Amino acid sequence: MVKVLAILYDGHQAAQEEPRLLGTTENKLGMYDWLTSLGHEYVVTSDKEGPDSKFQKEIVDAEILITTPFHPGYLTKEVFEKAKNLKLCVTAGVGSDHIDLNAAVEKHVQVLEVTGSNVVSVAEHVVMSILLLVRNFVPAHEMIERGDWAVSEVARNAFDLEDKVVGTIGAGRIGYRVLQRLVPFDCKELLYYDYAPLPEAAAKAVNARKVDDLKEFVAQCDVVTVNCPLHEGTRGLVNADLLKHFKKGAWLVNTARGAICDKDAVAAALKSGQLSGYSGDVWNVQPAPKDHVWRTMKNPLGGGNGMVPHYSGTTLDAQKRYATGAKEIIDNYLHDKPQNPANIIVGKTGYETKAYGQR
Ligand code: NAI
Repeated sequence: MVKVLAILYDGHQAAQEEPRLLGTTENKLGMYDWLTSLGHEYVVTSDKEGPDSKFQKEIVDAEILITTPFHPGYLTKEVFEKAKNLKLCVTAGVGSDHIDLNAAVEKHVQVLEVTGSNVVSVAEHVVMSILLLVRNFVPAHEMIERGDWAVSEVARNAFDLEDKVVGTIGAGRIGYRVLQRLVPFDCKELLYYDYAPLPEAAAKAVNARKVDDLKEFVAQCDVVTVNCPLHEGTRGLVNADLLKHFKKGAWLVNTARGAICDKDAVAAALKSGQLSGYSGDVWNVQPAPKDHVWRTMKNPLGGGNGMVPHYSGTTLDAQKRYATGAKEIIDNYLHDKPQNPANIIVGKTGYETKAYGQR
């Protein structure tokens, strides 16, 4: 018998009414009947903070841990010390930065993601976020709800995406899909910054140019979108110093991880007008505290905030894909079948991906 622990968020009434909300404590990634019918123990909880949480109590003898980036159970080095029986961490989604990956390597715990499961979902959200910032959509909609009608007030900060330079930090599965989706907008240029060059044919297909220096890259972009994982090399990458090199009034979209952008530096850049807008769904701490500055920060014209809770990669379509993928990973593990190499972040002998830093 294997003990499986899942850290998921509570879906409350929505999850009872909508069974396709699979990533909730109520619907348990659709795995409860399967795992228990095989005689395994399956513990599901949302209680994840602090040493007295159910997460930290149940992890001591769990063999498999399932977490999602949307409600991350932070598997720190200290928690690894307690998790004596842990063999496999499954991220139901993409992005395993909530796990201390170096500690996983040290403890010989495998870490797998459902690679690709929500990359289209996020890429669509990125394109939407770029458009809503550039076109100043949120203040325009808020004006309508207020009962007002002052076209110039919103048009004074609304632009076309056509003829703008858009660049992605990270041109992997999501970053590349963003570039693909931007092609019909006739941007002036599409740029990317990544230590892994795109295959020549892929770069040609979207007509994207690689820029090797990050400061030179941001200095050329009207819009910057962040699509790289969070690791030692990207934590705080977009900080006060880098923001000075952005074009004045640029727009920044980050659906990768909140901690890649410095919280206070971004808020200050928006307030001063150095950034015209910031949009994304990821926060340095999740759930974000009620007084998190990113909830209410604004540009000098009172707009430029496109923040939402972490949901771009958890559409109902994505939930189906990552629940199915997580089940496959666990089934492979339980029956000693090979894993899909693309899903392996940390394998039996160490890192198997280059996406979490050039190691
Ligand atoms: P991927 O592994 O296909 O691509 C990541 C790319 O980033 C790779 O090309 C890698 O070389 C590049 N990279 C790594 N470090 C870099 C650095 N220092 N500078 C520039 N580029 C760097 O991953 P994928 O599927 O595109 O996902 C990217 C990230 O998006 C995930 O790690 C996750 O954090 C985030 N994500 C967010 C979701 C959401 O719901 N908001 C859902 C899914 C992913």
